[in-house]
Amino acid sequence: MSFRLHLPLCFFFILPLLVLSATPALNDDVLGLIVFKADLEDPDSKLASWNEDDDTPCNWFGVKCDPNSDRVSELALDGLSLSGKLGRGVLQLQNLQTLSLSRNNFSGFLIAELLRLESLRSVDLSHNSFSGSIPDGFFSQCGSLRFLSIANNRISGEIPSNVSSCSTLATLNLSSNQLSGALPSGIWSLSDLRSLDLSGNAIAGEIPAGIGRMFNFRSVNLRGNQLSGNLPEDIGDSLLLKDIDVGGNMLVGSLPSSLQRLSMCSYLGLGSNSFSGELPDWIGEMTNLQTLDLSRNQFLGQIPGSIGRLQALEGLNLSENNFTGRLPESMASCTNLLDLDLSHNFLTGNLQQWIFLLRLRKIKVTENKLSGFIQIPAASSSTITVLDLSRNTFSGNIPKEISAIQSLQFLNLSSNRISGTIPLALGELKAVEVIDLSGNQLIGNIPFEIEGALSLKELILSKNSISGEIPGKISSCASLTLLDLSQNNLTGSIPPSLANLTNLQNVDLSLNKLTGSLPKQLGDLPHLLSFNISYNNFSGDLPAGNFFNTISFSSISDNPDLCGAAVNRSCPAFLPKPIVLNPNSSSTSTPSSTSALPTENYHHKKIVFSISALVAIAAAAIIILGVITISIINLGVKTSASHSAAAMAVTDDYLRQSPTTDSSSGKLVMFSRNDPEFCAGAHALLNKDCELGRGGFGAVYKTMLQDGRPVAIKKLTVSSVVKSQQDFELEVKKLGKLQHPNLVTLEGYYWTSSLQLIIYEYVSGGSLYNLLHESSKSKTLSWQERFDIILGTAKSLAYLHQHGVIHYNLKSSNVMLDDSGEPKVGDYGLAKLLPMLDRYVLSSKIQSALGYMAPEFASRTLVISEKCDVYGFGVLALEIVTGSKPVEYAEDDVIVLCDVVRGLLDLDRVEDCMDAKLCGKFPMEETIPVIKLALICTSQVPSSRPEMTEVVNILELIRFPQGTSEEELS
Ligand SMILES: *[C@@H]1O[C@H](CO)[C@@H](O)[C@H](O)[C@H]1NC(C)=O
Ligand SMILES: *[C@@H]1O[C@H](CO)[C@@H](O)[C@H](O)[C@H]1NC(C)=O
Ligand SMILES: *[C@@H]1O[C@H](CO)[C@@H](O)[C@H](O)[C@H]1NC(C)=O
Repeated sequence: MSFRLHLPLCFFFILPLLVLSATPALNDDVLGLIVFKADLEDPDSKLASWNEDDDTPCNWFGVKCDPNSDRVSELALDGLSLSGKLGRGVLQLQNLQTLSLSRNNFSGFLIAELLRLESLRSVDLSHNSFSGSIPDGFFSQCGSLRFLSIANNRISGEIPSNVSSCSTLATLNLSSNQLSGALPSGIWSLSDLRSLDLSGNAIAGEIPAGIGRMFNFRSVNLRGNQLSGNLPEDIGDSLLLKDIDVGGNMLVGSLPSSLQRLSMCSYLGLGSNSFSGELPDWIGEMTNLQTLDLSRNQFLGQIPGSIGRLQALEGLNLSENNFTGRLPESMASCTNLLDLDLSHNFLTGNLQQWIFLLRLRKIKVTENKLSGFIQIPAASSSTITVLDLSRNTFSGNIPKEISAIQSLQFLNLSSNRISGTIPLALGELKAVEVIDLSGNQLIGNIPFEIEGALSLKELILSKNSISGEIPGKISSCASLTLLDLSQNNLTGSIPPSLANLTNLQNVDLSLNKLTGSLPKQLGDLPHLLSFNISYNNFSGDLPAGNFFNTISFSSISDNPDLCGAAVNRSCPAFLPKPIVLNPNSSSTSTPSSTSALPTENYHHKKIVFSISALVAIAAAAIIILGVITISIINLGVKTSASHSAAAMAVTDDYLRQSPTTDSSSGKLVMFSRNDPEFCAGAHALLNKDCELGRGGFGAVYKTMLQDGRPVAIKKLTVSSVVKSQQDFELEVKKLGKLQHPNLVTLEGYYWTSSLQLIIYEYVSGGSLYNLLHESSKSKTLSWQERFDIILGTAKSLAYLHQHGVIHYNLKSSNVMLDDSGEPKVGDYGLAKLLPMLDRYVLSSKIQSALGYMAPEFASRTLVISEKCDVYGFGVLALEIVTGSKPVEYAEDDVIVLCDVVRGLLDLDRVEDCMDAKLCGKFPMEETIPVIKLALICTSQVPSSRPEMTEVVNILELIRFPQGTSEEELS
């Protein structure tokens, strides 16, 4: 401590000796400033011009000299990022009048002797980091000091009582420090004081008596302390007082009547105390008042009519008191009023018209007992930015004249008894940022015209009886962050355009009657913090995305048809077990999902059932329609037969004979066939007995062409194809061009908007699924036959991929066998007929393909490519080799074929998984490579799976190892 004190002193004495010889004209000021600088950090080198070799500092930055004496009179170094202590060098500046060091980062203690410099008139040390208490002798010799500010530092302790010695002070600002203790009574003997600011400290106790002696007082600010007791009775004797702010203390009692003498007073801030009693009539005498803040006190009674005399009044804040009665009509003459806050009182009566006719900016009357209709004159002031009428008992409609207030930014009419509909005029409020109409009795729709409110950030319409749908056009309100429509009677689904509101943070749609699935794009909303859709009738899966991945259960509860992990109810689209498992793990243990399985299973069955129920219900209608339509087709086709590609439109004329109301025309197209006519006709086509099977896209029936050749006809389920006729034809024609010995040929199609048929080559031998798994079938496949099927299937897929077609739906029931045992793959490419090639739809359409579905169907990030077929092929190959289904459900476990095989392969016990029907007749040198190939095909990561052409090549190598060729062997 002593060392630190001595160091500058040593410097101070040595320095003159060093420089004396060089610059004989050296004066105390240069020395003092160099020492002053030596205590500082000057990061921006602002004091670079301060050179100790100079004769005089008068040209140094921030320094001014008295022209007569050439001595430093002013040091002004405000806002230069200087740090360090205010050192004693400054005491050397004997003629200093002004010291201004505000807005730097000076720290350390105040120098006790600072104010003793006799010439000092103004010291500004505000906005620094000075700390410690005010030194004892600080105020003892103030010379002729007029201005002192130490505001915004960290000074603590009490205000020394000898502050009264600084009798020349006109301005004393000690605000925003940590001063405590009582206000010294001597403070009121500073009779020259014009301005006292002690706000933002922790000064306690009563305001000492004697303030009335302050005849020069213009401004007193004691806001934000812990002062108690009354406002001194004699305050009104300081007749020149303009600004009085004692807000934010603990003052009590009623207003001293002497205040009425302060006719110069323009600011009276008494808010946030415990003043009580009535607002006296004499308040009207304070005719210069511009701001009257009585908020947060205990005032009661009526607002006196004399307040109308305050014609200079700009801000009136009477909020959070116990005022009662009506607003005095006289206030209409407060023509300069800008901000009116009467909220949280017990005011009654109507909203008076003058409120809208003055040039007010803010009108706040929330939480009173105001009532009656809200009448907004068409001539309303368009200066109003805030209109808060919430929590009263206003009734009637929202007047459409509200659109006259074009400047409105904040509109709160919540918690009243307002009825009727939401006026379209709200959309004309281009500047409005917040609209809160919640807790009323509004009915009708949300008008789409709200799209016009382009600045809207918060729209709160909760707790009304609003019905209809959420208008999609709300997406025009691009700044929207909060949308609360909860507790209404809204129906319909969430418009996908909502996802365009990328600023959305909080959405509450709970307690409505909304339906449908949630638009997936919602998952992309980047700033979402809450999204409550509980108590609605939403269905389907939740969107994926950062927020939705962690959405709380309470936000989505009570939507009976919602599914997904968050509601603990699986979606039919997701096959948790086979997909979630790590394929690279050889373990067959299933730790994570066994508990969830019973419900999965149950749900799966339920969905299947409901689809067949639907089919049954639809059947009656469709059979009638179908019989007639097909007869008509026959009729039509006969007349224009013998074309190699016969195209026939069934016109309205034909359909007029139809008892159905379907008036659309149908069109039959056959590719490359001489005789396209159906022979056995319609009854066979849709006869249940002729049904060959049904899949995700519809049922398949067998029927005959006129030449006796059988064809298979797939009737697409109506809901699966919503594409336009043009798109449909384009896709089917593309598939019709495909010709491969291992593909079921697509021979033609028939299209109406309500019925779509695809005509396929009929393959006699039944499906691979039946051969492998139906125990009633006596024929068992030999290893050679199995290998042929695997190879043939691989070739067909390689061919499809070469022609840019993804199968999407490979499974054993889609592999048909002809008489010679050659596999023919069917059902390829149909997913493209769906309106959207959408993972959700895809996976729910193909839900029967349990176990064949590649994991990327469930992943939101991986792209679905041909590699999904490679995965399906791998599973199919294992199924063919082992005779087991890809996924089997045991008592309380799921057995995933790939995992079982992989595990046995690791244990060198592959033969254990081979189909028992092979009776051990298989060559290990073929089996093991085929199994290994199949397992590679079922890699979780799509890029790790081989191409189908590679698969074909490998399979051919397995059968015909290097060095031999097919010819040689056969
Ligand atoms: C003001 O009203 C509140 C709430 O009704 C009440 O608790 C309080 O006592 C009232 N104050 C006075 C001074 O009447
Ligand atoms: C919601 O609509 C239904 C049917 O339109 C009606 O019966 C019900 O009262 C409405 N509920 C509310 C809260 O408005
Ligand atoms: C969302 O915004 C994009 C780009 O502005 C626009 O193309 C698209 O039509 C909008 N979507 C909806 C549903 O409004």
